Amino acid sequence: MVSPSNPITSTAFLLYLAFLLNLVSAHNFSELFHSNWAPDHLVDEGNQIKLTLDTASGCGFGSKRKYLFGKTSVQIKLVEGDSAGTVTAFYMSSDGPNHDELDFEFLGNLSGEPYLVQTNVYVNGTGNREQRHTLWFDPTMDFHSYSFLWNHYYVMFLVDGVPIRVFANKEEVSGVLYPKNQTMGIYGSLWNADDWATQGGMVKTNWSYAPFVTTFKSFQIDACEFSPENGTMIGKCSKVKQFRWDKSAMNGLSKHQSQQLGWVRANHLVYDYCEDTVRFPEPPKECLG
Ligand SMILES: *[C@@H]1O[C@H](CO)[C@@H](O)[C@H](O)[C@H]1NC(C)=O
Ligand SMILES: *[C@@H]1O[C@H](CO)[C@@H](O)[C@H](O)[C@H]1NC(C)=O
Ligand SMILES: *[C@@H]1O[C@H](CO)[C@@H](O)[C@H](O)[C@H]1NC(C)=O
Ligand SMILES: *[C@@H]1O[C@H](CO)[C@@H](O)[C@H](O)[C@H]1NC(C)=O
Ligand SMILES: *[C@@H]1O[C@H](CO)[C@@H](O)[C@H](O)[C@H]1NC(C)=O
Ligand SMILES: *[C@@H]1O[C@H](CO)[C@@H](O)[C@H](O)[C@H]1NC(C)=O
Repeated sequence: MVSPSNPITSTAFLLYLAFLLNLVSAHNFSELFHSNWAPDHLVDEGNQIKLTLDTASGCGFGSKRKYLFGKTSVQIKLVEGDSAGTVTAFYMSSDGPNHDELDFEFLGNLSGEPYLVQTNVYVNGTGNREQRHTLWFDPTMDFHSYSFLWNHYYVMFLVDGVPIRVFANKEEVSGVLYPKNQTMGIYGSLWNADDWATQGGMVKTNWSYAPFVTTFKSFQIDACEFSPENGTMIGKCSKVKQFRWDKSAMNGLSKHQSQQLGWVRANHLVYDYCEDTVRFPEPPKECLG
């Protein structure tokens, strides 16, 4: 047992605690990210960043490193008031033509009308897997957390810890490709998408409300990091399957999570590409079973 009266042991213990806390604590923006579009529209306030959109530009940021599997979370407070036509995105993406990508896109709306959260999954360059959800809170009033849990078994999209979508790895049974061999960066942005975002593009951005502002904070990346210096995963991450997001308990949803996902689907799912027979007369393979 650790005895606080032993100065060497207690120092080691405190260092160990600090190490543990550091693993789960949120990081400042500049440690992990840099601005990658219109730096003059992104304000780093230390404990949070503000992305602004005006008639001149939107803006965005990206991670300095790339990752393969893990859990990534951020807290976001979306554009208040009339946000119609604006889209805030939080996503992961690999580079190159046959890219993999996981998206949260927050579609703005008129004052008092609900935001929609659109999620999508691209594998080897192919997306077209949109789902849209309403939220059970007003995402413009306060910060809420949005996360990706990405392991060998599934990609889970979570809102305040509640799973809203699971994209399972069915590669071996159905041949549907799963994102697993391309490292991804982590990105955020705010831009004008009034050609499609709000009520199918019918409602345009009202620039008299500009600048539009979205705030991000509490960045948490608990993921395997790729070293661009030597082209390998860093340290123990070369054996990613050992990591906590891949433990056997993580190969399916817990009973509680299944119930939560069922509740979300019943109450907040407003669009699912799997059920869109106009776009897909033959349901996509991953939608079966
Ligand atoms: C993040 O920035 C804030 C404000 O500048 C500072 O108080 C805090 O100590 C920083 N945290 C880390 C982990 O660097
Ligand atoms: C990924 O897409 C490219 C280009 O369409 C194709 O040539 C390649 O075979 C695909 N990869 C797999 C594993 O199917
Ligand atoms: C990685 O996967 C993609 C899509 O599955 C494929 O196109 C590509 O050839 C793979 N690359 C390697 C190095 O296995
Ligand atoms: C905006 O509000 C309208 C009316 O309530 C709703 O139909 C629509 O789904 C909402 N969201 C978007 C992004 O259009
Ligand atoms: C934009 O907002 C202003 C200020 O509320 C309002 O007067 C104007 O009618 C709005 N424009 C459109 C096209 O709705
Ligand atoms: C690769 O580089 C990283 C630093 O980016 C280092 O931590 C790691 O030990 C290196 N791995 C090998 C096999 O050299």
